[in-house]
Amino acid sequence: MATPRTMRAVQYDKYGGGAEGLKHVEVPVPSPKKGEVLLKMEAASINPIDWKIQKGMLRPFLPGKFPFTPVGDLAGEVVELGSGVTNFKPGDKVISISFPSGGGLAEYAVAPASLTVARPTELSAVEGACLPAAGGSALQLLKLAGVSFDGTSGATGPKNALVTAASGGVGHYAVQLAKLAGLHVTATCGARNVDFVRGLGADEVLDYRTPEGAALRSPSGRRYDAVANCAAGVPWPALKAVLADEGGTVADVTPGVGAALTSILQKATFAKKRLAPLMLAPRREEMEWLVGLARQGKLRTTVDSRFPLSRAQEAWAKSMEGHATGKIVVEMGGAE
Ligand SMILES: NC(=O)c1ccc[n+]([C@@H]2O[C@H](COP(=O)([O-])OP(=O)(O)OC[C@H]3O[C@@H](n4cnc5c(N)ncnc54)[C@H](OP(=O)(O)O)[C@@H]3O)[C@@H](O)[C@H]2O)c1
Repeated sequence: MATPRTMRAVQYDKYGGGAEGLKHVEVPVPSPKKGEVLLKMEAASINPIDWKIQKGMLRPFLPGKFPFTPVGDLAGEVVELGSGVTNFKPGDKVISISFPSGGGLAEYAVAPASLTVARPTELSAVEGACLPAAGGSALQLLKLAGVSFDGTSGATGPKNALVTAASGGVGHYAVQLAKLAGLHVTATCGARNVDFVRGLGADEVLDYRTPEGAALRSPSGRRYDAVANCAAGVPWPALKAVLADEGGTVADVTPGVGAALTSILQKATFAKKRLAPLMLAPRREEMEWLVGLARQGKLRTTVDSRFPLSRAQEAWAKSMEGHATGKIVVEMGGAE
């Protein structure tokens, strides 16, 4: 079927406003530029960065301009190729990350071919859309904390991992990846998700609202040599206190003010206990690796909730509440 000239999309036209700031509009279908593919969207998953950009937390850099169609985690079918794209053809089912350009809350979106990978049939579009940012962040966090995935972690690298906010989008992948790397995993989450996180493979689970959980104290008395911190607001002294005496790294996907300076000072003084802030830098080969694990059933995606495009505001509000178990997805063509 020929690509239409216009499409339904969800946009915001100023900072702030939350879910109510999202408007349903009819706009031209974008054209893929050099190195881009045009996708007929199947699903998009919302990440906290999407509404943080709307809040103005990356002002004045993002979004690039208003009105802005948010969401960068995409799953869809290739319908057009920009110049220079040779590795895809119309009809290919793919997943992609389009950050910071966004564009995912729409019937069609352009994405960089360099960050687009084939979606195998074993992976649904909804599952595929969940992987790029959250799966990529989980993998990069663990690598930053010194974990390797070549089978050597248990022998030479970290042995005891802590994953905070293990019930969230990033955390639920991080627990599974840390187990695949052969680590003992202690994880934190709310009481209602303890069984869920245990089911992901965590060896010990702490309710973060209890004193032990708030102190991040392993029930078996372990101290950690690798921490994937996915929870906002956990202070560095609390994390430092539970690192092994021999040393360890807290890879932090929610770094607070001063984290970069702390990290630089620790490097300069050769500190054994390190804080390492992470800003996701998506990599195609990592996306392919994650898709491969998912295809083999070794990395599972938990979907908290799914909404049709017509109810994108509800998905947005749900993400802003911060209590998702797994990922929140908007489906194009999903049941209204
Ligand atoms: N720097 C980067 O490049 C980057 C990339 C990706 C994500 N991030 C950031 O990483 C954070 C996590 O992202 P996400 O997608 O995983 O978020 P999410 O899916 O919205 O996380 C929600 C989950 O976190 C749990 N949680 C919240 N605070 C917790 C705490 N103190 N201890 C334990 N569990 C807690 C919640 O449990 P309850 O419902 O029980 O409270 C909920 O299940 C966000 O702040 C996001 O912006 C940064």
